[in-house]
Amino acid sequence: MNFSEIPKTELHLHLEGAAPPAFIRQLAAEKGVSMDGVFDENGTYVWGNFVEFLATYERACEVLKSPEDFGRLVTAVLEEQASHGVIYTEMFLAPDFCGGGDLVAWKEYLAAMTEAALASPVEARFIPTCVRHFGPEQARVTARVTAETAGGLVTGFGMGGDESQFSAADFAYAFDIAREAGLGLASHAGEVEGADSVRETLDHLRVSRIGHGVRAIEDPALGKRLVDEGVVLEVCPGSNISLGIFADLQAHPISALREAGVQVTVSTDDPPYFHTDMTAEYRGLSESLGWTQDDFNAINRTAMQAAFCDDVTRSKLMAKFNGA
Ligand code: HPA
Ligand code: ZN
Repeated sequence: MNFSEIPKTELHLHLEGAAPPAFIRQLAAEKGVSMDGVFDENGTYVWGNFVEFLATYERACEVLKSPEDFGRLVTAVLEEQASHGVIYTEMFLAPDFCGGGDLVAWKEYLAAMTEAALASPVEARFIPTCVRHFGPEQARVTARVTAETAGGLVTGFGMGGDESQFSAADFAYAFDIAREAGLGLASHAGEVEGADSVRETLDHLRVSRIGHGVRAIEDPALGKRLVDEGVVLEVCPGSNISLGIFADLQAHPISALREAGVQVTVSTDDPPYFHTDMTAEYRGLSESLGWTQDDFNAINRTAMQAAFCDDVTRSKLMAKFNGA
């Protein structure tokens, strides 16, 4: 199999976390912003654990200061996606870094990102995302600006950040605002915290997709709930291994979850931080876990079914994964 050429759908990709290191260094040089401590001597992002990863991520975001910067970032990231065979992608992006919750500013950022995405060969949608460790009040601000701009490429609302902070219930109001606006809902859970975190997220945020969710494997009753309720997991194996949640693909639960009937999809999360890309993910699943073209078609159909897009786009893209 030529892994880069297999058509792919990616549902879990952070726009800021996908920024190529060279792109961030270039912007930092243009603006005279210090990136001391962000990169190592090989030019890759430096972090040692999950909390440090989030801190480096936020430091790198300090160079992204204008709508034009974000437009350039969308172009760079979607070009990279296309080179790995991705034909449909949903990008998490944090309005906190796009004007801090000011609606007028956010609309300018969104316009620049939309223009860049529409000019790219990849069909893209945006999932504005609140950052859990910024707290529930800021999450409501993020939900409000997202709801105000729902439509166009803005089709979902999500939550990332430090899963150990606050409880899912604290964010219920923000997710209610987004649900009311007709947006698809997704939240990180079951990545650095266990099954209880996934359960609370389903109970209080009522999302159709869980970012990661892999630690649901620790609780068979939760696994059954995911199957019964048709919850889709955005699994990012390379990210989980890089963060030390599982030692390697053999120890990763993606195949076990799938065999239990849980709907799984495959994404990269923050590729340069985790030294991965969609080609490497597919190659790993094939070489370490024996996944075949049929398996890849199946997970991509699952992803298109769960995608936050209109049905015309869904059927058009679904046709690429019918195994012909
Ligand atoms: N987990 C939680 N929050 C994040 C991540 C992640 O992997 N990437 C960017 N924000
Ligand atoms: Zn993520």
